[in-house]
Amino acid sequence: MNIILLGPPGAGKGTQAGRLVSERAMVQLSTGDMLRAAVKSGSPVGLRAKAVMEAGELVSDSIVSALIGERLDAGGTDAGVIFDGFPRTAPQAEALDLLLAERGRSLDYVVELEVDEAALTERVVGRFTCARCGEGYHDVFKRPVKAGVCDVCGSTEFKRRPDDNADTVATRMAEYRAKTAPILPIYEARGLVYRVNGMADIEEVAGAIGIILDKGGALDAF
Ligand code: AP5
Repeated sequence: MNIILLGPPGAGKGTQAGRLVSERAMVQLSTGDMLRAAVKSGSPVGLRAKAVMEAGELVSDSIVSALIGERLDAGGTDAGVIFDGFPRTAPQAEALDLLLAERGRSLDYVVELEVDEAALTERVVGRFTCARCGEGYHDVFKRPVKAGVCDVCGSTEFKRRPDDNADTVATRMAEYRAKTAPILPIYEARGLVYRVNGMADIEEVAGAIGIILDKGGALDAF
């Protein structure tokens, strides 16, 4: 099964992708994570991407499409792929169709997380992750059970993303509205789009996505 999680910054794409990875053994392909890894490694791609990401703008279509192609070829994706943060433009959507077709695969669902943009800045600015295992947390919505200690690995080191500040979030939202939201009609025309209320709590959102993946075309029965 190959699905796209679509939604603006802070909609919960990464949170829900993480759930699907642990519950369904699917593979999360997050171009944001791939680009952050490239920045951290100091690779040529990372050097080109760093300033663009910190400004909240989009990295070039050719770079992100190549990253996805390389990851698909690395294998281990038979149980399914969750595209998280890709595609983000019409050329990326075209590239994804080609990348999948060349590998004998196709898209099953596009899940749009519908959210209230006004609430997203709080979500994004309050986000932090475990510096050791990457588990995601939030100052208000998802705190570690024991303050200052990661629930998963016990680390006491946490980090925040440099682009998670109010100014950059505003640019990221504008990029989403201008370049990413317009790709939805492409998938609507193919009958692939399912909408989920991304303002519900994390468990409810996960439940709604689970129903889509399990019931698919029979969703109207709910
Ligand atoms: P990327 O890393 O993809 O960031 P993004 O799309 O802005 O998405 P986020 O990771 O900010 O949000 P999310 O929807 O995953 O939310 P999360 O689950 O963390 O991209 C970063 C940058 O890389 C881009 O700006 C661009 O420069 C570049 N880039 C990446 N892909 C690219 C591409 N394809 N083309 C070009 N450039 C690209 O949740 C947020 C917080 O809210 C968390 O703290 C979470 O705990 C909390 N939360 C989640 N769900 C809920 C809920 N239901 N209720 C309450 N809190 C919740």
